[in-house]
Amino acid sequence: MISMKGIILAGGAGTRLYPNTIAVSKQLLPIYDKPLVYYPLSTLLLAEIRDILIISTPRDIAGYQQLFGDGSQLGLNIQYAVQEHPRGLADAFLVGEQFIGEDSVCLALGDNVFYGNTFSETLGRAKRRVEKGSATVFGYPVKNPREFGVVEFDENGKVLSIEEKPEKPKSNFAIPGLYFYDNNVIEIAKSIQPSARGELEITAVNQVYLDAGKLHVTTMRRGMTWFDTGTPKGMHKASGFVKTVQELQGFYISCIEEIAWRKGFISDQQLKQLGEKLQQTDYGKYILSLLED
Ligand code: G1P
Repeated sequence: MISMKGIILAGGAGTRLYPNTIAVSKQLLPIYDKPLVYYPLSTLLLAEIRDILIISTPRDIAGYQQLFGDGSQLGLNIQYAVQEHPRGLADAFLVGEQFIGEDSVCLALGDNVFYGNTFSETLGRAKRRVEKGSATVFGYPVKNPREFGVVEFDENGKVLSIEEKPEKPKSNFAIPGLYFYDNNVIEIAKSIQPSARGELEITAVNQVYLDAGKLHVTTMRRGMTWFDTGTPKGMHKASGFVKTVQELQGFYISCIEEIAWRKGFISDQQLKQLGEKLQQTDYGKYILSLLED
């Protein structure tokens, strides 16, 4: 079996969130009760990816190191890399080339929040498909497709086109910030040219897979929630959602400690230690309560 690495891209200037992000990295800001970066990290954990590279800016990388260290407390191997300049999403595969090595890779954008009961299965299928040599991206119906990468497909789910922030979107399916690729993605990222805005676009990478007949799109529909948290409204909406679901159901969303424990990456004893550090908060009490059931 090919093993899969995970990359979280937590760079960017976050200008759409100013003044919030003048002094603090966007993905360290809270979505209700935990930092935004916990959400993409939990996505990787649900996909059972344990070797993870966090990429951020020269200014912000230390914040992530302080938050997660080497990841061993969660049964993970977390490494860090600096992106000197925001050169686009596909630059993650160049910055992460050595880290990826011979493996396949899942890229999770640091500001994308997913939640839904079919999510784990969806991730498992995407991972298995990569093992057979194709790339998987997702399609999520939105009202404002112009703000995203957009995918058009026929009734059989065959991809017809993908476009980055089109003036006239050919569908209302946005491509969320979660991408599964085989190892070829490194060479592909090296081969593409920067776009008009001077960035190595992830859409250009996906176009290469599409041209080769190797791009698969999985649609996320009812029952799956996706938030792009790029603006204050987006962050507030996501925070409200997390608060409401957690209070209604009592299950926490993107509690990385819980996921690591349920996946068997850490023992009861390790979970207890993590919970005790946070026991002043509802979040910490929740972690400790898991051991009582
Ligand atoms: C990026 C991608 C876009 C994707 C979006 C998801 O856009 O370029 O294709 O739909 O992330 O969050 P950005 O948010 O960097 O403008």
